[in-house]
Amino acid sequence: MKILVVHGPNLNMLGSRQVAVYGDKTLNEIDSLLQKRARELGVELETLQSNHEGALVDFIQEKSPEAAGIIINPGALTHYGLSLRDALADTSLPVIEVHLSNIHAREEFRQQSVIAPIARGQISGLGWRGYIAALEIIATPEA
Ligand code: DQA
Repeated sequence: MKILVVHGPNLNMLGSRQVAVYGDKTLNEIDSLLQKRARELGVELETLQSNHEGALVDFIQEKSPEAAGIIINPGALTHYGLSLRDALADTSLPVIEVHLSNIHAREEFRQQSVIAPIARGQISGLGWRGYIAALEIIATPEA
């Protein structure tokens, strides 16, 4: 089983970016923790970070036919990225939206997600462990 892990704009700056909000782990560290858990679960991950919405759309279109689900932190595209939303919806795959911070406890513009209505679910505010929870849920479908 292959699962796509998609990181949106500015997440390449994790580790130095607003540490009090997003935590001190770098994106590489989070990706390594995901890879370790994926090995334990016997699933394969294919990962992309991009600061460009079109690159995220290209990756989703190209890779989704081979995938069983998508874990995505869309960054600020969460709040307005309609072409990203359409690309995710077109896959018909289970999508889990992950946010390191609790977007519902932040500025008003962050409290709305254009992704959430087409997602299987959203994990928000649990830090890097939110990605692990998303992976466990996609990798171990309900019996
Ligand atoms: C974020 C929340 C977004 O509002 C923000 O633009 C990000 C990160 C999070 O993980 O908490 O880039 O998606």
